Amino acid sequence: MRIVLVGPPGAGKGTQAQFIASHLSIPKISTGDIFRANVSGGTELGRQAKKYMDRGDLVPDEVTIAMVRDRLAEEDARDGFLLDGFPRNVPQAETLKKILSEWDAKLDIVLNLVVDEDEVVRRLSGRRTCERCGKIWHVDFDDKQDDICDDCGGHLFQRDDDKEEVVRHRLEVYKEQTAPLVQFYADEGILRGIDATGPVEEVTNRALRELRPLE
Ligand code: AP5
Ligand code: ZN
Repeated sequence: MRIVLVGPPGAGKGTQAQFIASHLSIPKISTGDIFRANVSGGTELGRQAKKYMDRGDLVPDEVTIAMVRDRLAEEDARDGFLLDGFPRNVPQAETLKKILSEWDAKLDIVLNLVVDEDEVVRRLSGRRTCERCGKIWHVDFDDKQDDICDDCGGHLFQRDDDKEEVVRHRLEVYKEQTAPLVQFYADEGILRGIDATGPVEEVTNRALRELRPLE
């Protein structure tokens, strides 16, 4: 199955992507994670992306699209994938459609995680990520008393772009550039809205209910 997850920053795309991708045994392809790995690895791609990410702006399309095209061409993505954080604007969505059509493929479904702005700010300000296994935690909702990952013992860190003024800018960028994707995919007839409030497992179950008819 070929799935795209959309939604504002902090809606829970990364959190849900972990569960959905492992449930369906398909690779989770997160452009944010790939960029962050390149930044910490000190690669040329990371160097190019970092200045945009630090401001909360989108990395230029030509950089992002080339990276995604290469990743989708890998063996494990041939029969299905879950994209988290891509596409991020209408030109990226149009390019994705073109790339897939070159391979006689198309998206099956786009899940739109719907959550209001206050909740998004609450989620981002308490987010912590495990430096070792990548698992996403929340200081309050997961009742974290220390900075250690309960799964692997790794150290938890706060993302640089979760600072308040950067979060505010990311929300603006979302409204201007990413929100129009909702209409784009509604017009394509493959958009499903998911109420992304409430416990993580409930949101996962709502998403899996939408996917079941396609399995
Ligand atoms: P990216 O990493 O994609 O960031 P984002 O879209 O802003 O999304 P987030 O990762 O902030 O949030 P999320 O929805 O995954 O929420 P999460 O699950 O972590 O992109 C970062 C940057 O990279 C961009 O700004 C841009 O510069 C660049 N970039 C990436 N893709 C690009 C592209 N295609 N084009 C150009 N540039 C690109 O959850 C958040 C918190 O809430 C966590 O603490 C979690 O534990 C908690 N939480 C989740 N669900 C629940 C729940 N149900 N109840 C309570 N808490 C919850
Ligand atoms: Zn961990």
